[in-house]
Amino acid sequence: MIINDEEVRGAVKLLIVGGGGREHALLWKLAQDNPKGEHFSAPGNAGMSKLSQCLPLKAEDVLDIAEFASKEKIDFTIVGPEAPLVGGIVDEFKKRRLKIFGPDSQAALLEGSKVFAKFLMRDFGIPTASFEVFDDPRKARAYIDKVGAPIVVKADGLCAGKGSYVCKTKEEAYQAIEEIMEQRMFGSAGDKVVIEEMLSGEEASFMLLSDGDYLLPLQPAQDYKRAYDNDEGPNTGGMGSYSPVPVFPPSLQEEVLERIAYPTIRAMQERGTPFVGVLYLGLMLTTEGPKVLEYNVRFGDPETQSVLPRMEGSLLDALIAAEEGRLREIEIRWREEKCLCVVIASGGYPGKYEIGKEISGLDEVEKLENIIVFHAGTKNVDGKVVTAGGRVLGVVGLGRTFREARKRTYEAIQMIKFDNIFYRRDIAQRVEEKE
Ligand code: AMP
Ligand code: GLY
Repeated sequence: MIINDEEVRGAVKLLIVGGGGREHALLWKLAQDNPKGEHFSAPGNAGMSKLSQCLPLKAEDVLDIAEFASKEKIDFTIVGPEAPLVGGIVDEFKKRRLKIFGPDSQAALLEGSKVFAKFLMRDFGIPTASFEVFDDPRKARAYIDKVGAPIVVKADGLCAGKGSYVCKTKEEAYQAIEEIMEQRMFGSAGDKVVIEEMLSGEEASFMLLSDGDYLLPLQPAQDYKRAYDNDEGPNTGGMGSYSPVPVFPPSLQEEVLERIAYPTIRAMQERGTPFVGVLYLGLMLTTEGPKVLEYNVRFGDPETQSVLPRMEGSLLDALIAAEEGRLREIEIRWREEKCLCVVIASGGYPGKYEIGKEISGLDEVEKLENIIVFHAGTKNVDGKVVTAGGRVLGVVGLGRTFREARKRTYEAIQMIKFDNIFYRRDIAQRVEEKE
């Protein structure tokens, strides 16, 4: 296999699919692993344009991306978001004998269908919230009536992170059924719903590389889904993250490997749909032990932004080894430093917001030590960097302690300016307080 050849190592032609903060973090790391190589992004963003050639392709344009990779003879492709994975980008690349890291569409069902994931967990005894599935809104309402609140209602399919409703009252749960099944806010993703028990505890995001048979855990992270400080306000795509996670120590990670991660990988093998890619476990650490809230089949956003800066050695080698079924050969070491990522958003996000605002201060911040700025919704216009999305940047800081890392990160953020800038001020505060 050409990429394994020592001669060409470090000179690989890489394509990153996606254009958010997670993809910038992946590119940042992979470009260091591949110093003599060439890098392309589809579509990328202003930050990624400094490290790669950005292509006028959307991440969901599976056929166009495959066509580009064939023509350009891309050696290896890494996919950020879930939609192209569920949409079969890996199947398409494999058909063309192109190397790509990620699950095929069958294995991506772990994220693509909550009904699939829940039945798999039930069948294989993997700890998760107890649940029922409905395709008829009347029966769903009758069930809510019977079991009462609090309760969680989830649309079956992909909803860009908006399809789960944690309901404190029966009325909220009826409203969720109304939006998902009657108003069909998520289209056919709402043909079925999962209604499940509400779990409580701390959440942790645990990402593991899988070659289909063997798992290599990454360091865990915690993310912040709500828009405002103290976990108030609406859910977002993620307002920040930090790593490591003191409430999720190595002993508990071992337990999750044994009781959740490996049983999932074995279940997928048994079904004849082995899982290659990033197995992302969204966990609730309950008093009865860790339980699965959700599976994702890709790197987390914004968890990746606070995990990769702590990784030593080559991510590229690990991803290629996973794709080639020899992940056992890889060992990853981690820096002791603490890391956080604060997402800088456009005022109004996750609701309506304006774009096209000029961003200043980036050059100064990029010179700071132990600070990395990952771009998300940014664009180059007339030689300036302007906002182009709800989540604009992720400012990442490292430090010996969370206190030091937080101080550094929030000082750096003061240097970045654009109209109507907005971010949470409490990212990693709870771990700093316990240090
Ligand atoms: P999901 O779309 O399944 O990732 O859920 C999104 C978020 O909703 C999770 O990160 C949790 O904060 C919350 N959540 C999902 N399922 C449950 C549950 N069964 N109990 C409590 N919270 C939940
Ligand atoms: N941070 C949650 C996700 O990536 O889905």
